[in-house]
Amino acid sequence: MKKLAVFASGAGSNAQKIIEKFRNHPDMRVSLVVCNKPGAGVINIALMAGLQVLMIERERFMKGDAYIPELAAAGIDAIILAGFLWKVPDNLVDAYRGRILNIHPALLPAHGGKGMYGMHVHASVIASGDTRSGITIHLVDERYDHGDTIFQAEITVRPGETAESLAARIHELEHRHFPVVIEKFFTEPGGPPVERPAESLSS
Ligand code: GRF
Repeated sequence: MKKLAVFASGAGSNAQKIIEKFRNHPDMRVSLVVCNKPGAGVINIALMAGLQVLMIERERFMKGDAYIPELAAAGIDAIILAGFLWKVPDNLVDAYRGRILNIHPALLPAHGGKGMYGMHVHASVIASGDTRSGITIHLVDERYDHGDTIFQAEITVRPGETAESLAARIHELEHRHFPVVIEKFFTEPGGPPVERPAESLSS
């Protein structure tokens, strides 16, 4: 049984979908939710799902042991970042190299890097005049939004699209693909190929 820890800082809608996906899965399950923001929506989602929540503090996470002992004690095999806003420290990257996935709400390398999260990303896409956006699921390494891309899905940016309307469409794309990509990555040997399914133009 592969045990996943989901790290999240916000509402947790992605965490919710991932928890649901693996609730009765034969090979994988979410067994811990890690959060850095008291009061975040993801905490309630985790508690309602009967999951343990590990609240983390910046100093110990960034400059200490990155809570690796707690992850090891929980038997965590892989880490899923689902809207986690802190950079993963090098010691944690080392401890879980090749087994930390992140989702970014744009087509990296465009609109990525430090400070590019949430609405900032969608505003950047709109401001750039790009006609396509989408999601990127990638391995996490020592640099922001830099590790190997595992999956991308694209949608058109509609004329008159706002950052808010784009955010809502991207969120739907995340919820549809992230749980499935996680499953494929950790159950298929060698992980899934890099896919770029062209979302139907109407989506
Ligand atoms: C998502 O847009 C994800 O792409 C980004 O953070 C957001 C998390 O949203 N990394 P939620 O907390 O899962 O609703």
